[in-house]
Amino acid sequence: MTTTDTTTTIALVTGATQGLGAQTVRRLAALGWTVWLGARDAAQGAQLADEIEGDVRVLQLDVTDQASVDSAVRTVDAGSGRLDVLVNNAGIAGTRVGPRETTPSDFLPVFGVNVLGPVRVTHAFLPLLDRSGQPRIVMVSSGMGSLAITTDPDRLESTLHGLVYPSSKTALNMITTQYAKSLPGYQVNAVDPGYTGTALNGFSGTQTVQEGTDAVVAAATVEPGDRTGTFTDRAGAVPW
Ligand SMILES: NC(=O)c1ccc[n+]([C@@H]2O[C@H](COP(=O)([O-])OP(=O)(O)OC[C@H]3O[C@@H](n4cnc5c(N)ncnc54)[C@H](OP(=O)(O)O)[C@@H]3O)[C@@H](O)[C@H]2O)c1
Repeated sequence: MTTTDTTTTIALVTGATQGLGAQTVRRLAALGWTVWLGARDAAQGAQLADEIEGDVRVLQLDVTDQASVDSAVRTVDAGSGRLDVLVNNAGIAGTRVGPRETTPSDFLPVFGVNVLGPVRVTHAFLPLLDRSGQPRIVMVSSGMGSLAITTDPDRLESTLHGLVYPSSKTALNMITTQYAKSLPGYQVNAVDPGYTGTALNGFSGTQTVQEGTDAVVAAATVEPGDRTGTFTDRAGAVPW
């Protein structure tokens, strides 16, 4: 185990080959942090890492594959000796079908990535996070996971109908608050990036990835002893 000096923050971003994850890596690397860029396709990750200034290290990581996650833990342990900030960003939208047409099998791939993924990665990395002086976990959730927002007629999210993606993010929100209560000394927070133009929505989102990562970066850089168990977007608190 090589322990990197304690003055450098060590972060890992899952699903970082494009969209919000890639931008999060750029922004955290620009802070002078060591950033592990999680990529299902390591070659794609390496190509992106080459384009980003700073200490960016590629990590083969498929959040649905336990062997891949276990191997990633060994790689981060060998290279950094600990983890300070875990950003559970990887997520998929799944097939867009209305509630009436949705069947149980529609849930499996989406819950596999959006719910079991963050739990698999978090569980596996807890021993490395335990070695941090300020362990932080950011869950990249969505306003679509908020019961309050999706039932508020003044919000765009209330006009969208779906069982699978929204409920996956609601589950992630509960997982966030349960981890926050159960991990003393940790700061575990959920964020809503806001509607951002990425492959996830066919680039229909109205925000830039810079705007979309504001809440992610804010939760990754919380001060020691500051908030845990919160849900925020770039404007502030988000109702559950
Ligand atoms: N865009 C929005 O408006 C918006 C709004 C609210 C929340 N979010 C959330 O923000 C997060 C990032 O989404 P995005 O908009 O940036 O979408 P994106 O551009 O499609 O990026 C998603 C990333 O997740 C990765 N991924 C998918 N399955 C994976 C797996 N099994 N293991 C590891 N990585 C996997 C993808 O990898 P590949 O490149 O290999 O496919 C990709 O890098 C998601 O959790 C999403 O739900 C997005």
